[in-house]
Amino acid sequence: MCMTERTYGMIKPDAVADKVTGKIITMIEEADFEIVAMKKTTFSKAEAAAFYDVHKEKPFFDELVTFLTSGPVIALVLECDGAIAKWRELMGALKPEDQADGTIRKLYAKNIGENAVHGSDAPETAKREIAQIFPCLSCGCCCE
Ligand code: RTP
Ligand code: MG
Repeated sequence: MCMTERTYGMIKPDAVADKVTGKIITMIEEADFEIVAMKKTTFSKAEAAAFYDVHKEKPFFDELVTFLTSGPVIALVLECDGAIAKWRELMGALKPEDQADGTIRKLYAKNIGENAVHGSDAPETAKREIAQIFPCLSCGCCCE
């Protein structure tokens, strides 16, 4: 059975500004992800609000949109077996106290909001996020 999966990954504005993009990409490659697509882009307020629509009622929403639009991001489509869960494991947990050693957030997050990386949390989310950021990328996933 084919288990290949794609996820949407993103190096957020804080990590891009801190010039740790290369270090994070190295971690991604050493974890054996295939980088299917990658681009540097800057979100508009409307794009950021659409991207984080699921959080629009949360108290931190405005702060989140401001953060995501504060500078360029590196947008990624990552592929491997179980890519969604594997990328979230490499990213590390949301809460600083839960971040395991060796994870990207443990190494580079500044706080709960400015936390270096994003990853899709489910197959439907990955599909929606990849479609928003890479509309020209036809999904070649054999598990579709
Ligand atoms: P992400 O969506 O960015 O991959 O992060 P996540 O799944 O680990 O966390 P999620 O609950 O989806 O939150 C999305 C982003 O919102 C910011 N946040 N701030 N101030 C706060 O309490 C708070 N909580 C979340 C973070 O940037 C988080 O990654
Ligand atoms: Mg999330």
